[in-house]
Amino acid sequence: MTSRVALVTGGAGGIGREVCVALAADDRRVAVADINTEGAEETAEMIRAQGGEALVVTMDITDSDSVIQGCLMVADEMGPVEILVNVAGWDRFAKFLDTDEELWDLLIEINYKGVLRTTHACLPAMVAGGWGRIVNIASDAGRVGSSLEAVYSGAKGAVIAFSKTIAREVARSGVTVNSVCPGPTDTALLASAADSAANPERMLGALEGAVPMKRLGQPSDIAPAVVYFASEGSAFTTGQTVSVSGGLTMAG
Ligand SMILES: NC(=O)c1ccc[n+]([C@@H]2O[C@H](COP(=O)([O-])OP(=O)(O)OC[C@H]3O[C@@H](n4cnc5c(N)ncnc54)[C@H](O)[C@@H]3O)[C@@H](O)[C@H]2O)c1
Repeated sequence: MTSRVALVTGGAGGIGREVCVALAADDRRVAVADINTEGAEETAEMIRAQGGEALVVTMDITDSDSVIQGCLMVADEMGPVEILVNVAGWDRFAKFLDTDEELWDLLIEINYKGVLRTTHACLPAMVAGGWGRIVNIASDAGRVGSSLEAVYSGAKGAVIAFSKTIAREVARSGVTVNSVCPGPTDTALLASAADSAANPERMLGALEGAVPMKRLGQPSDIAPAVVYFASEGSAFTTGQTVSVSGGLTMAG
């Protein structure tokens, strides 16, 4: 069997890069999609260095044309996307009453509508092919809320509800849809979000202290859950939401 094709948004760094490398190690051919082409190139090089196959796709998930063109390019060069992992995301910490509609729009465009765009572009071929895996990186913030992240949390909650609904709609087509929720994870996104807080060090310390395992997550903590949901063996698991956060969120 030819290796399946995975498209990972946000593959230029942080959790997305680790997901790309882990999927390649699991014998997937990986399209590394990101608005940051240079970072995506670096990820692709890491995959090639370990003997894997990678394609760089410059993609802005806030732009439907960019998403559609990127998916067409992957289909041309590697074949239709069989595994879609939505990792790209963005956040800025602020009290809700200090935010404005411009920021709300940006947070929703990236964190929620970006997932709608890639899913809309990739799902038809999965259904037609009778096999597919969609894994959405949401957040514990989308399950239990998180101070200073009201709109981001709402968008991530929307991703979780959307994933469950699509999981139901395509349940008989061989396509599964699941969400992975990191807790605070040591990436550029967390560092820059913390920088916007009054006392970044204190904020990061408080986040660590709230985690039962008393440490931040690492991207390598998150990737194995994605690899599982993208696997052949996860075929009977759909519409699920899993927290990978050192025990921070233990939802019933
Ligand atoms: N780091 C955390 O604490 C944490 C916690 C919970 C959830 N998450 C989620 O994990 C995912 C990955 O975050 P990360 O921490 O690795 O952050 P990161 O900043 O390291 O990576 C995010 C990637 O998304 C890309 N991106 C941003 N906007 C884009 C756009 N419009 N089009 C295409 N690509 C775009 C960036 O270029 C970057 O490569 C995000 O969805 C984030 O919300 C992170």
